[in-house]
Amino acid sequence: MKRKILVIHGPNLNMLGKREPDKYGTSTLDEINANIEAHGRKTGIEVHTYQSNHEGDIVEKIQQAQDVFDALIINPAAYTHTSIAIRDAVLLLDIPVVEIHLSNIYKRESFRHKSMLCDVVTGQIAGFGMFGYLMALDAVVNFLQPKNI
Ligand code: DQA
Repeated sequence: MKRKILVIHGPNLNMLGKREPDKYGTSTLDEINANIEAHGRKTGIEVHTYQSNHEGDIVEKIQQAQDVFDALIINPAAYTHTSIAIRDAVLLLDIPVVEIHLSNIYKRESFRHKSMLCDVVTGQIAGFGMFGYLMALDAVVNFLQPKNI
């Protein structure tokens, strides 16, 4: 059966393209999503994307993911640094979860160095811009392969 992967984008990521392009690049969220979906098609993965500026909506989307998706890729944006609710929702999941950031949050202001998710996700990718989403997709596909070791 075809693998299904959910990609969640948090607050203000709908403004990509216009938003601080020096930090986040010039691609719009639609362009990024189109790239992730195209990469998914090449890899035989069905990619679903979702963006919300609202913490509760993101929590509900994560809660619904367990029986529907094989993995979650999430850029919680500013909620990375504040949201126990998103952390708790991720803890409900029994599927691989990749935390992703366009920018390297550890090279930025100190309040961005703390991630509420980093110790409850499968792994984290930060600092590679849009390419990070494609890396995350490859990472979960690899992670989902039956291991032969
Ligand atoms: C971000 C980093 C966060 O600190 C910031 O609030 C964002 C985007 C990133 O992708 O680099 O909105 O998650």
